[in-house]
Amino acid sequence: MNRLRRTLRRLRNPPVLRRDMRLLWTTLRLRLFSRSDTLRWADERELNPQWDERAEIVAHHIPAGSRVLDFGAGRRSLERFLDPTCVYIPADLVSRGPGTVVLDLNRRPLPDLHDLHADIAVFAGVLEYIRDVPSLVEWVSRQVPACLVSYQLAQPRTGALRRWGRAVVGWVNAYSREELQRLFEQGGFRCEIDTFGETSEGPEPILLFRRISDGPLL
Ligand SMILES: C[S@@+](CC[C@H](N)C(=O)[O-])C[C@H]1O[C@@H](n2cnc3c(N)ncnc32)[C@H](O)[C@@H]1O
Repeated sequence: MNRLRRTLRRLRNPPVLRRDMRLLWTTLRLRLFSRSDTLRWADERELNPQWDERAEIVAHHIPAGSRVLDFGAGRRSLERFLDPTCVYIPADLVSRGPGTVVLDLNRRPLPDLHDLHADIAVFAGVLEYIRDVPSLVEWVSRQVPACLVSYQLAQPRTGALRRWGRAVVGWVNAYSREELQRLFEQGGFRCEIDTFGETSEGPEPILLFRRISDGPLL
């Protein structure tokens, strides 16, 4: 209901509608050519401070002493909420300050990140922008033993209309909870935590995947 109200509000606001249409067109073009929206993400105004709430929830699931590789680091808010014994390593399409691993998760081949010795990779609000998630999962399973994922889940069998709705905000895929879990399972992970965190924007899905060949994380 809230989402419907938000959509109606957007439709009644011409500047927002124009921006939505521009983003929709860009997303469709980028999706077609498997490219990333570097122009958008280089603009810091695109990084919503409200997403800090999600970072705080994610941080609660990360054990002290972990080396944390934060893909799509954005404002690096996760860094502030981690236990001080953790080592924080930001990774993003554009530099997010000192120590950023600059990489495009839509490019292939993806680099070898073994030297970072990360214990856990975080994907908070970033998988939505990735064209080929299965090959990304296959790659990350060779880089880190665990992944913490926060992803805006689609309904099972999401229809064309909902897919268009997702494209308006720049999202290029639409996985349901079951599909996302299956993807990580096929990549050699098992799901250890499947829950929601409450934010002012609504419930935020949190999934923790652990490589099958390794022991439990928590
Ligand atoms: C919605 S923001 C989420 C930021 C942060 N994780 C948070 O929760 O606040 C998406 C982030 O993913 C990054 N991103 C988008 N496409 C990417 C790509 N192809 N490769 C790497 N990072 C990407 C953006 O630069 C941005 O920092």
